[in-house]
Amino acid sequence: MPVSTIPHINLNDGNTIPQLGFGVFQIDPQDTVEAVSEALRIGYRHIDTAEMYGNEKEVGEAIRNSGLDRSDIFVTSKLNNSFHEPGDARKAFDNTLADLGFDYVDLFLIHWPLPTLYNGDYVSTWKTMEEFKADGRARSIGVSNFQTDHLEKLAAETDTVPAVNQIEVHPYFTNDAVRAYGQEHGISTEAWSPIAQGGVLEDSTITQIADRLDKTPAQVVLRWHIQRGDIVFPKSATPSRMQENFDLFDFELDEDDVAAISALDRGEDGRTGPHPDTMDKLPS
Ligand SMILES: NC(=O)c1ccc[n+]([C@@H]2O[C@H](COP(=O)([O-])OP(=O)(O)OC[C@H]3O[C@@H](n4cnc5c(N)ncnc54)[C@H](OP(=O)(O)O)[C@@H]3O)[C@@H](O)[C@H]2O)c1
Repeated sequence: MPVSTIPHINLNDGNTIPQLGFGVFQIDPQDTVEAVSEALRIGYRHIDTAEMYGNEKEVGEAIRNSGLDRSDIFVTSKLNNSFHEPGDARKAFDNTLADLGFDYVDLFLIHWPLPTLYNGDYVSTWKTMEEFKADGRARSIGVSNFQTDHLEKLAAETDTVPAVNQIEVHPYFTNDAVRAYGQEHGISTEAWSPIAQGGVLEDSTITQIADRLDKTPAQVVLRWHIQRGDIVFPKSATPSRMQENFDLFDFELDEDDVAAISALDRGEDGRTGPHPDTMDKLPS
């Protein structure tokens, strides 16, 4: 699969992002150089990491070792929950760039809104993110796990609409209201845990479509995300699965298949991660 066939999504700030990338959550630092190197060899050109994942250094090392131009790879990282106060956020962003070994990231996100912490003030955190965009060290800025009321508060009190909102989305949790707000306001949706960490792959609706199309369940689910217009970055530490998850552009789901997968939504019961309204975990 030539790299150039991966579609790009236009962000609201004029930048573009490859719609398919590689996520490195829960890849141990000692395994990250090998995993990211393999992903780049397969053709992934978009890596999603975070300070919280503890593997920014190794992501940077793999990218440098690859011999590819930095400008050919889209790198996202995220502000950890401990660093929402503006002074802390500035130091944390300096550290992220130092650990990656780059002078910019393509996209920097507030990892969680933490509305029950910091007196509910994610607005001053967002205004600090605007500084990183203004000085060019974050080409784009966005948020993660923001609910519509969090996005509305940013819209009312700040000048910059987030380029993306990275939220949990998969067939058991389609998160439609937050996605719809994004669509209406020019915020691209990034779908995290796109295969629910494997939890949707044995669903009979999905396996039947996969059998009919001679594709794997993971390919069917990732293709569903792509056709809905979301950005995805499945994680795998298994080279054959990395390749499988990359091979999404030689088939299509018809409208009925897309609708059947969307109908698997279980609402809040399908959510696997923390609820953004109550998530208050600070790393020790
Ligand atoms: N912003 C946030 O709060 C947030 C939260 C969670 C995730 N994320 C981002 O989203 C990325 C993806 O989400 P995720 O890592 O939680 O889950 P995921 O991509 O939905 O699933 C990863 C799991 O599925 C397995 N897997 C991958 N491909 C497979 C395939 N083709 N067939 C069968 N099993 C397969 C992997 O196993 P092996 O590795 O053993 O192959 C791994 O256990 C993360 O890496 C991270 O970048 C962001």
